Amino acid sequence: MPRGGFVKALILSGGSGTRLRPLTYSQQKQLIPIANKPVLFYAIEDVIEAGAKDIGIIVGPNKEQVAETVMSEDWNANIEFLYQGDPRGLAQTILVAEDFLDDDFVMYLGDNILKGGIVEHAERFHSLNPDSLVMLTQVADPQRFGVADIDDSGKIKRLVEKPNVPPSNYALVGIYFFKQVIIDACHQIKPSWRNELEITDAIQWLIENGYRVEASIVSSWWKDTGKPEDILEANRLILDDIMPKNMGTTDNSRIIGRAVIDLGTSISNSIVKGPCCIGKDCKVIDSYIGPYTSIGKGCQIKETEIEDSIIMDGSNIMNAGRIVESLVGRNVRIRESDGKPKGHRLIIGDNSEIML
Ligand code: G1P
Repeated sequence: MPRGGFVKALILSGGSGTRLRPLTYSQQKQLIPIANKPVLFYAIEDVIEAGAKDIGIIVGPNKEQVAETVMSEDWNANIEFLYQGDPRGLAQTILVAEDFLDDDFVMYLGDNILKGGIVEHAERFHSLNPDSLVMLTQVADPQRFGVADIDDSGKIKRLVEKPNVPPSNYALVGIYFFKQVIIDACHQIKPSWRNELEITDAIQWLIENGYRVEASIVSSWWKDTGKPEDILEANRLILDDIMPKNMGTTDNSRIIGRAVIDLGTSISNSIVKGPCCIGKDCKVIDSYIGPYTSIGKGCQIKETEIEDSIIMDGSNIMNAGRIVESLVGRNVRIRESDGKPKGHRLIIGDNSEIML
């Protein structure tokens, strides 16, 4: 039996990612890079580590983009893509995948990222053998999540989705272990106030109908990368654990701390201070790349300081002063304006956010 004992995994990579606009106009939210790797890949790695051999990935409007990105890597598992036409909630994805889900399975929201993987939780599911095992973690803002009402012994009494008055600060992490009875539950429940079939309601249905639902507490960090600040935080947390590796070339530059510099990248007259990572084929000239920065492939950074930020593939940043806590999409050009009248000249897509 593989480590976590799972054969089937369902990973969700659909939805429209409205809280991450404008990045999600052109890019599926689960493909946003954290430390130069799409968030979705962390989920795929976790389920494979827990033994998954058959992975179903739920895809939505950007289905080709997700399939192309996932299939650009070799995975040690069979992967199939399951199309959720009209997105109507997490429980609906189980109905979309009903034929695929012919065994116990783990369901993993592709925008969640968790330190330490899921093997210990998968093993707990197998040893306790409940109908479902949910993962819980303490959060400061439980109103944003599904929340568990638990008794003194840690037993789950009730689950509620995004309550105004949370019964505890234990949020449901977006990773769930199920027996097939969850499919019946998803058929039984009705849409919520936000007109979605909530997975939280389906698990609550299990509780109300006498099925056993157990909890597993997550003690390491976990992030739902639904908002820009969550993405930057996840980037910091992943970079905190990176191992330094310099495959690029440096000239008259200083590399301080743990930095990953990929092939074909040149650093000249610059300071790079980790933890940070710089992708393939970048040029960094007369610049400072500071801690907690991830720079995608094919970027050019000249006479600029960047810290605590994510710069995605193909962006070009010149004489831009100091950039902090920023999320910059793909193929963006930022440069000091040289003409008159002096001032900020902006060509920016809908729902962008600029702080000057
Ligand atoms: C979903 C679930 C919620 C869970 C959260 C974790 O929320 O409905 O119960 O706590 O994922 O990421 P959503 O991302 O749909 O707001």
